[in-house]
Order: sequence, then C-alpha cells, then structure tokens
Amino acid sequence: MKKIESVYGFRLTGKVLLLAVFFALYSAGMNGEISEEKSIEVRKRLKMLNKPAVKSIKSEDGDMIDCVDIYRQPAFDHPAMENHTIQMEPSDESPTLEPSKNTSESATTVISQVWHKSGSCPKGTIPIRRVRKEDLLGAGSLESYGRKNPYVPDTTHKKINEKRLEHFPEVNRSVTYLITQGYSYIGARGDINVWNPSLESQDEYSSAQIWLRNGLPQNYESVESGWVVNPKVYGDMQTRLFAYWTADSSTKTGCFDLTCSGFVQTSHEIALGASIDPVSSRFGNQYKISIYLYQDSNTGNWWLQFGERINIGYWPARLFSLLTHSALYVMWGGEVYSSKIKTSPHTTTQMGSGYYAEGLFGSGCFINNIRIRDYSMSLKFPDWIASASEEVYCYHATIYRPGYLSEPNFYFGGPGRNPSCP
Ligand SMILES: *[C@@H]1O[C@H](CO)[C@@H](O)[C@H](O)[C@H]1NC(C)=O
Ligand SMILES: *[C@@H]1O[C@H](CO)[C@@H](O)[C@H](O)[C@H]1NC(C)=O
Repeated sequence: MKKIESVYGFRLTGKVLLLAVFFALYSAGMNGEISEEKSIEVRKRLKMLNKPAVKSIKSEDGDMIDCVDIYRQPAFDHPAMENHTIQMEPSDESPTLEPSKNTSESATTVISQVWHKSGSCPKGTIPIRRVRKEDLLGAGSLESYGRKNPYVPDTTHKKINEKRLEHFPEVNRSVTYLITQGYSYIGARGDINVWNPSLESQDEYSSAQIWLRNGLPQNYESVESGWVVNPKVYGDMQTRLFAYWTADSSTKTGCFDLTCSGFVQTSHEIALGASIDPVSSRFGNQYKISIYLYQDSNTGNWWLQFGERINIGYWPARLFSLLTHSALYVMWGGEVYSSKIKTSPHTTTQMGSGYYAEGLFGSGCFINNIRIRDYSMSLKFPDWIASASEEVYCYHATIYRPGYLSEPNFYFGGPGRNPSCP
C-alpha cells in the first residue's frame, strides 16, 4: 500500500462572515410577496427556458421532463446558431477504455434516470428538465439563474505554489482536487462515486466533478460535468447530474445544463439536471457515474459522454477561444460553494460523502478509472498528478493505490465544520 498526500492550509477572514449575515437578513426580507413587475419577468423567463414540449413526463422524484424538438432547444436562442446543423454523432471513434487494474474496489455504474420509469422521449426530441417558478424565485436574481457566481481569485490567501502547481484560492469556494498539467488535453474521464452530501443552506452547493480548463485564473474557459447538490438551480437537495461551461471564469458567460444558450443536446435518453438514484451509503452499496469529456478533432466541439456509451451532446466550438485548441489542465474532485468558508464558524456543508477521504472505499468519495486524452488519441492515466485541499482541516484529499500494481484512485471530501475546522 502506497499513499501520497499533499495538502495546504489557509487562514480565515472575518469579512466574509459579516457579508454572510448581511446576505441572510437581506434574503429574509425578500422572501415575502413578489411585485407584479417581477412576476411578469418570471413568466417571460420561464417561457424562454421551457420550450414547447412534444410530450411531458411526470417523474416520481418530482421533476417534469419535457421532450422538446431537437431544433427548438435553448442552444438555438443564440443568433449565431441560426444556421447551425446539429452534429448528431461525434466524428472520432471513441477510444475503448483499457480495463482498470483495480480489483477490490467495485461499484455499480448508474446509467438509468428516475424519470425513465414513467416514460421516454421519442427520437428527434431531447428530454429537458422543466424549470419551475420556485426555482427562478430562489435564484436571487433572474439573470443569475442557472449560473455560478464568478470565480474570483482570493489574493488575501496564500497562493498554492508547489512544484508545477500554481493556484489561487477562490472567493466563497473550497476545492479539493487531483490535477494534471503539462500537456495539451483534448479529453478526460473518470468514474465518480455518487453521494448525497448535506448542505447547511439553500444558497450553497457541493459537487463532485471533472474540470477541463484553459486560461488565466481571472479569465478562464472551462467545461465541467459530474454530480451536484444545488438547491439554487434545482430547488431541492437531490444529487443531480450536471454539465457546466464558462468562457470567462463565470463572470458573464456560461450556465448549468440547458439553462442558457450553450450546450447542444443530441441524446433523447439522458436529461441533464435529472436526479441520480440510487446514491451510495456508508459501508453499504457503492454507486458511480462515468463521465467523459472530449473534443471532436474535426469540429472542435466538446462532447459529453455518460456511462461509457451515451453521448449526451456537445458544447459548440464557437463558445470558446482557448478551449477550441485544447485544455491546459484537468482537475478531478469536489467543490463547496459557500460564503462561510475560510472563516469561522465554517459551513457544515459536506463535500463528497461527508466523511474524510481517508475512510477510503465505502466511506470516502472516490474518483477512479482516471484517464486523459492527448494528441496521441489514446486514453491513458496521466503522467503527472498532484492533489491539493484548500481547507485541509475541513475537507481532505488522498491519492491511494489499492495494491502495489494498481493505478491510483483519488479520494476526497469531509464534513465541513468540526472541532478541527471550527
Ligand atoms: C443563415 O443563413 C442565411 C441565409 O443564407 C443568412 O442570411 C444568415 O446571415 C445566416 N445566419 C448566420 C447567423 O450565419
Ligand atoms: C461571496 O458571498 C457573499 C455573501 O453571500 C456575496 O455577497 C459575494 O457576492 C460572493 N462572492 C462571490 C465571488 O461569489
């Protein structure tokens, strides 16, 4: 057994706490009645987000899934998409995944979605999770619905600068990740263990995901996918499959799933934003999802593949400039968004399973079968990896080899606030 770990700590600020209190009071005052003006705006926005359905499916998890004509999906709201012909299939052959060398740690792959029990979408349509009025009203502002707050480098904290790793912590975010860099990446995959971490409040989120990025910290381009608990977007605390993109560190561009004009969906089987069921339990059954993000070498589009087989769709090359070429680095891991991080009292929002990474299989949240794709076109384990945790007393990172010949798996997560993370 071999274990490598690199972790970093940061000091706290009181300023963030004051802001949090202010925000709590502010939003309490906002929850009353909504003005006539706002309700007109809300209706307008809902009409734009929810396209006319060929068929609607009521899912037992509370979602409504609309089967929408593939050429009427939100991507076509953008004027530049007027004459866009949907690329129905990736043009490259998908490389086959060499069998993993992990033997003892097996988890069941989840590929079906809860709404499948209640029906299916016909070919020529795509399933879209319907946005409800409550989802929009919970977003803070209509403009920010479906979007992440900007990634702002927090220069008041120590910069992570170890070997080839250079990273500024970001405001209101705590991340724990495995990273690779040094080449041009045109794909990355991983099997992500699925859990349902608890959140302290409605304006936070907790994700387990893969990021492919290019650009400077203040202005980077990113395509991302994995699972997330994000009540501000989905209105509840279920664990959901998500896709996210931005071309400017989330300042002005980008959104989750199909909540803006961006991602072009081709699959009539998988709905982005749908809940994942079942989720893993401690010392019980383990479940995972397979996520593969890769660039089509002919079109430059970034495809999202789910469960080793289903191409959900793609982000058109036109959304990006640097990522049109390739990604500069890839990250696998977890992110907690909260205004109560790097401060005390810390948020009790959990990352991953809510248990420390060191609990390993059955307790810690893992990402395994980690692969990258470079211009050699094969899928391989990255040559160089490092791991980091911004708040080492709250959320942990562990690279772990189950056996001498096994490839490393990445474990991450933790409980948030606890006696060593007050
Ligand atoms: C789409 O095609 C029409 C007809 O050829 C053309 O007039 C229009 O400018 C095109 N739109 C875009 C966004 O390229
Ligand atoms: C951080 O959180 C505070 C309080 O909720 C908020 O006012 C601020 O806009 C957030 N900043 C970012 C970059 O998310």
